Amino acid sequence: MDHIPQVAAEAARRRSFAIIAHPDAGKTTLTEKLLLKGGAIQLAGAVRAKGNARRTRSDWMKIEQERGISVATSVMTFEKDNTVFNLLDTPGHEDFSEDTYRTLTAVDAAVMVLDAAKGIESQTRKLFEVCRLRDIPILTFVNKMDREARDPFELIDEIEGTLALDAAPVNWPVGRASEFAGVYDIARNRFLPVDKDDSEAIQLTGPEDPKLVELVGQERATNLAEELLLAEAGLKTFDLEAFREGTLTPVYFGSALRDFGVSALLRGLDEFAPPPGARAADIRDVEPDEAALTGFVFKIQANMDPNHRDRVAFVRLCSGKLLKGMRLKQVRTGKQVPVNAPLFFFAKDRQVAEEAWPGDVVGIVNHGTLRIGDTLTEGEAINFRGVPSFAPEILRNVRLDDPMLAKKLRTALDQLAEEGVVQLFRPLDGSPAVVGVVGQLQLDVLASRLKIEYSVPAGFDATMWNEVRWITGDKAEMARFAEVHRRDAAEDHDGALVGFFASAWRLGKAGEDFPKLTFHKVREQH
Ligand code: G4P
Repeated sequence: MDHIPQVAAEAARRRSFAIIAHPDAGKTTLTEKLLLKGGAIQLAGAVRAKGNARRTRSDWMKIEQERGISVATSVMTFEKDNTVFNLLDTPGHEDFSEDTYRTLTAVDAAVMVLDAAKGIESQTRKLFEVCRLRDIPILTFVNKMDREARDPFELIDEIEGTLALDAAPVNWPVGRASEFAGVYDIARNRFLPVDKDDSEAIQLTGPEDPKLVELVGQERATNLAEELLLAEAGLKTFDLEAFREGTLTPVYFGSALRDFGVSALLRGLDEFAPPPGARAADIRDVEPDEAALTGFVFKIQANMDPNHRDRVAFVRLCSGKLLKGMRLKQVRTGKQVPVNAPLFFFAKDRQVAEEAWPGDVVGIVNHGTLRIGDTLTEGEAINFRGVPSFAPEILRNVRLDDPMLAKKLRTALDQLAEEGVVQLFRPLDGSPAVVGVVGQLQLDVLASRLKIEYSVPAGFDATMWNEVRWITGDKAEMARFAEVHRRDAAEDHDGALVGFFASAWRLGKAGEDFPKLTFHKVREQH
């Protein structure tokens, strides 16, 4: 295996990350501020539009239909002090946890944003659990310190208690709420007054430095000194190895809205978050500095232009160098895929990339050839692991208002299934396809896209099934299952066998009847 120093150097200066947060904690505001620091000023509007759009379901869908914004903000690349940051957006709504999961397979670190008044909320917890599955290192940003906030000790305690994750404060708030005066950088003994730029931080000898009293008054200085003593005695200190292993999170206090503490967070991402590392494929681990390019598709999205049925496949590069005009092998089919115009995303803009490196995400426009989970290589037959499908919890029959549109519906559903909008199952008895989704909102999006993009008005009818499982095991037994369960067995979009079950009891019964088969709730693609 050839290793190339230039590839190693380019990979080493890349940080690919996502922001996870409960709605309203401040993800959009923080994203905006991070992009501003990277000089991507014109982007702020696009991000804000999306944040507001999420406020109500109907607005959100309207924006989703203007495909541009969600495509463009899926990946935001910015550069600061020679580090290239790739910020991958995760959908805010919980119905899209599957999409979120896939995005998190493509990052090397995550920022967890907490509302200082609320701490860990339900969605934070769910998203964190997804990160934990891959031990993704997490930096924590405790946001909205300019407002009434909970006690920092209590917040740290809550992170440790509810997430089973060690938490080490990097800076400490001086004063609270309306008395909030700034943050104290614990390791470097620097005080950053609120609303000042990071470069204006004041170097002190320690929390006892009399200069601090001059700056923030006796009471706040005394409180800080006491709290830091307590913190030193009772809290963890930052440990790079534990962070990289995903067992410890550095905690930054700040305010995204006031652009305060955001520079420190960005510096943390730069200094501590890992560059792309080795990735597990089925037959070997792939090192980022290998000469040959590898990557995988983690997301598909319909293109901006509704008149063309092309989509963008988002590819996370894992090794090698991507050059415009390359032909890559799609390992699943053995086909060659031309990459004539790989796209880079700068929020609202997209640009054709001349070259891209490990850690980068590029968009490849195609007509449905590329699927979620596909591995692309320069020829080697390897498959990256870990882009999963989850068993949907809602199964519906599609009801057509106009039966003449049946063929059009089939095409539309196929394309939307490839995009990951829905899962599609074809019953073995030949009855019409059944769609599976994780949440109701997904059905609304499906109906709306069918109507607007494909001119196929459709509704949904309940089915008698509530559980789906992928089935693997002994070939003859699988055939027997398919025969016995002809009316409640189907093939998924990739031709894999699934069983539908009306209840957990029936699923259990099938397990007893077919002990040589395994029933999976999660399926790794390919
Ligand atoms: P989200 O993407 O996580 O859903 O959150 P978003 O950034 O949209 O922020 C949610 C609300 O919290 C917004 O107010 C935003 O201005 C506010 N916010 C974010 N960071 C801070 C902060 O550091 N301090 C304070 N005080 N507020 C903050 P909104 O009124 O809902 O929206 P908007 O009218 O300001 O757009």
